[in-house]
Amino acid sequence: MTAHIVMLPGDGIGPEIVASARRVLETIADRYGHAFEFDTQLIGGAAIDATANPLPDATVKACLAADAVLLGAVGGPKWDDPSAKVRPEQGLLGIRKSLKLFANLRPVKLFPELISASPLRPEVLRGVDLMVVRELTGGIYFGEPRFREAHGDGERAVDTLEYTTEEIVRVVRLAFEIAKTRRGKVTSVDKANVLESSRLWRHVATDVAKDFPEVTLEHQLVDSAAMRLVTDPSSFDVLVTENMFGDILSDEAAVLTGSLGMLPSASLGEGKRGLYEPIHGSAPDIAGKGIANPLGTILSAALLLRHSLGLSNEADAVDTAVTRCIAMGLRTADLDASQACTTAEVTQAVVDAITKT
Ligand code: IPM
Ligand code: MG
Repeated sequence: MTAHIVMLPGDGIGPEIVASARRVLETIADRYGHAFEFDTQLIGGAAIDATANPLPDATVKACLAADAVLLGAVGGPKWDDPSAKVRPEQGLLGIRKSLKLFANLRPVKLFPELISASPLRPEVLRGVDLMVVRELTGGIYFGEPRFREAHGDGERAVDTLEYTTEEIVRVVRLAFEIAKTRRGKVTSVDKANVLESSRLWRHVATDVAKDFPEVTLEHQLVDSAAMRLVTDPSSFDVLVTENMFGDILSDEAAVLTGSLGMLPSASLGEGKRGLYEPIHGSAPDIAGKGIANPLGTILSAALLLRHSLGLSNEADAVDTAVTRCIAMGLRTADLDASQACTTAEVTQAVVDAITKT
């Protein structure tokens, strides 16, 4: 098949890990006879430097015309001035909104060989295989009004947490659809004992569940869900929650896998087009050193093949190659400082594993 893929390398280690994932996609294209066209566009701090805009119109236009988008990471100390009018993160939030990507899927799967890389005890980690479905275009990240104003001797700042029934229904439905293909359990996470928006969330989730008799729904408050994620993580199958809770819980869940560097994500909307990115950030401290873990981005490329291009055999080939590379003992420094393979070595091992299957 022919597919048009936009690459958004962004900042920090973004360009290095996106280059790795591109090599993997090129290897897949060669091996399986596809033609992938790549188009690289600006986002984040790199876009601010070049155009003074974290999300140039040309980037949005290219992404809207693409079959899929692969993103590295945005942000860094250079653009961190709290009084700055534009921030790299606005680029990321803007592209999610422009592409109407309301659901962010973050699969958290444990590679048995990496069990010792996690600070948690092996017996807690056994059997961990969960999917975080995070609402991505609503909630406190986007609610209006938001402002800062003078107040007495100091200031006052306001953010707004709002949800509509429609916004909750579409993401919760997706969580149920996913649960149907897995172990048939949805945990809806909220703060319904305090927040009005969470009470609506819980009401809507209960309603949606009626259409999925084969799936079990449980509700859990976000604070106790945070605790259960590290005390009994294997009891989760699909966890669905609002934007900010999902942001926080998915970083927490990443600890289960040994490194934030391992986790991919897929952001999806109504159609097939999606945006794929590792869940880690731009890691400015190691940028340009060639030591970043490329596997979160490579696994994101696998999700891209699966969800946006419908190429499940090819996606399986990438997943298998990553598993093999881990089994062979290749580890970047985030997983094992004593080994410290380079980004290039790990990428090459994945490419070799794909060519040999
Ligand atoms: C993430 C990140 C982003 C978010 C930031 C960079 C805006 O933390 O993708 O999880 O909060 O959504
Ligand atoms: Mg985050």
